Amino acid sequence: MSERAALAELAKRRGFFFPAVEAYGGVAGFYVYGPAGARLKANVEASWREQFAVREGHAEIDAPTVLPEPVFAASGHLESFNDLLVACAECGETHRADHLLEEAAGVHDAETLEPEELAEQLAANGVTCPNCGAPLADQPVEAFNLMFETSIGPGDGAPGYLRPETAQGIFVEFPRLAEYARGQLPFGVTQIGRAYRNEISPRHALLRVRELTQAELELFHDPADAGPDLAPVADVPLRLYPADDQGDGEPAYRNLTVSEAVESDVVANPWIAYYLGRARQWYERIGVDLDRFRFRQHLPGELAHYASECWDAEAEIDGDWVELAGIATRGDYDLRKHDAHADDDFTVFREYDEPRTVERATVEPDMAVLGPAFGPNAPAVADALADLAERDPAAFEADTVTVEADGEPVTVDVADANFAVETVVERGEHLVPHVVEPSFGVERAVFTVLAHSLREDEVDGEPRTVMRLPPAMAPTLVGVFPLMTRDGLGERARSIAAELRDAGLAVEYDDGGSIGRRYRRQDEVGTPYGVTVDYETLEDDTVTVRDRDSAAQRRVPIEGLAEVVRALRDGERAFDSVGAAVADA
Ligand code: GAP
Repeated sequence: MSERAALAELAKRRGFFFPAVEAYGGVAGFYVYGPAGARLKANVEASWREQFAVREGHAEIDAPTVLPEPVFAASGHLESFNDLLVACAECGETHRADHLLEEAAGVHDAETLEPEELAEQLAANGVTCPNCGAPLADQPVEAFNLMFETSIGPGDGAPGYLRPETAQGIFVEFPRLAEYARGQLPFGVTQIGRAYRNEISPRHALLRVRELTQAELELFHDPADAGPDLAPVADVPLRLYPADDQGDGEPAYRNLTVSEAVESDVVANPWIAYYLGRARQWYERIGVDLDRFRFRQHLPGELAHYASECWDAEAEIDGDWVELAGIATRGDYDLRKHDAHADDDFTVFREYDEPRTVERATVEPDMAVLGPAFGPNAPAVADALADLAERDPAAFEADTVTVEADGEPVTVDVADANFAVETVVERGEHLVPHVVEPSFGVERAVFTVLAHSLREDEVDGEPRTVMRLPPAMAPTLVGVFPLMTRDGLGERARSIAAELRDAGLAVEYDDGGSIGRRYRRQDEVGTPYGVTVDYETLEDDTVTVRDRDSAAQRRVPIEGLAEVVRALRDGERAFDSVGAAVADA
């Protein structure tokens, strides 16, 4: 069974995730996190927040998921947030054309092809419809916009869209967010929330869904800055797969530390390198297997419409590389677009080190002359004169100047323009900040952590399935089991479970079936510690604590048990340092 299939089966059985609304036949691309999955997801998000907001000192916001159409007209999503679709003439099934070509014909990087090239290649490779087998040779390949459209308000309403990325909710609020940051660059704003994409072919469970969760950081910085202090991540090793090295055959990786990647220019933007280091540290913390992890640079044809450099964090699952996150240079693309389309100022004021004395050319056109001469065009003529004075003051050395107003050339006497050159002192200038964006998919992180944690091993000569999640990610931290329910063991176990819960730990009480079966159940759901209440407990107020991974057990006093488990979770104590060994464990 493939890794993905084994995980999907266990995920449904143990409540990590399952397809939504199956009672009504299901709907592709929508998933439910069950009781175990919702806790795991919350732990993954909390750890992301701690890493990328709290420890980095960035702000976090929570913006609406529905935004009006002008936002996406400005951002370019209305025009460019497309995937390429081919429809089968026989059965009507639609397919994502680039994925189909990659899978059916083994073509690499089909995402970089234009629609006509894709159609040609589908025909040349004899690709057929995966649903009914009909040839797709003469079918057109067309752009399909992935945004879900909606209408805001009753009646015809105003057109709106479910956000396809959380980022736009940050960009459109930039003027206010910059105020909170007191206009000081660099500053970062994070957001964890839902995004929606009407994927042509949702698949592989959580890996390609239509409603997803993103954890995004928009780092606003001065393009002239030298980048961040790399010291905290300088020695973090990165397995890099640069665009220039990508082709057919085995990948040739560049194994460099963050500082080496910057010094050798393999990663051009030091901000990107910094976040590659932070991303690797975070993925390790949440349980991604770093032997199955790399950073791959986007090929030029693959870059999103707003990006100039992008590195994807990728993880291997079933031999395929899955994109987990994109860390991109968005430059001033978004803020400049919103500055042009919206009614607000998307710049910050950059103060010079020293005030500068500059000469500035100005005009003060005589409207008593321009009005009668140009009628309703007079204000446009005045604006054109002001522009010209700024761009080319020498033009005012002649007796007349010619400017274009409303598409027409008009000539004005220089005397009527009242041209002058003033000396002014400038404290600084307005600048549109640049953006570096680490953008993480939460579903793909959750799925990868589960896939990389799922193992088959043997305990006491018996095969078992175990989910070796890092303790801090596990949905349940402690399982509490009475050896039997009689003789007061059940009550004692319940009271211990209550005490541990009261200490803020995630606890599951389980008294159903043999103790071995209960251990196996918790192993499958990834519970790192099992507390067993037995007859000795009634005598000396101790319990056994079982370690999921080694299945070893230690005898530990109930007093202080919560602190012991917390210390184990946080890596402050080693398992064999707590309590006393249990001889017959
Ligand atoms: N703001 C930038 C942005 O949205 P992206 O590469 O389109 O960039 C970022 O998305 C991350 O979101 C991806 O790396 C991936 O982890 C996740 N993602 C995107 N589409 C997804 C989908 N349909 N299902 C699950 N995760 C998805």
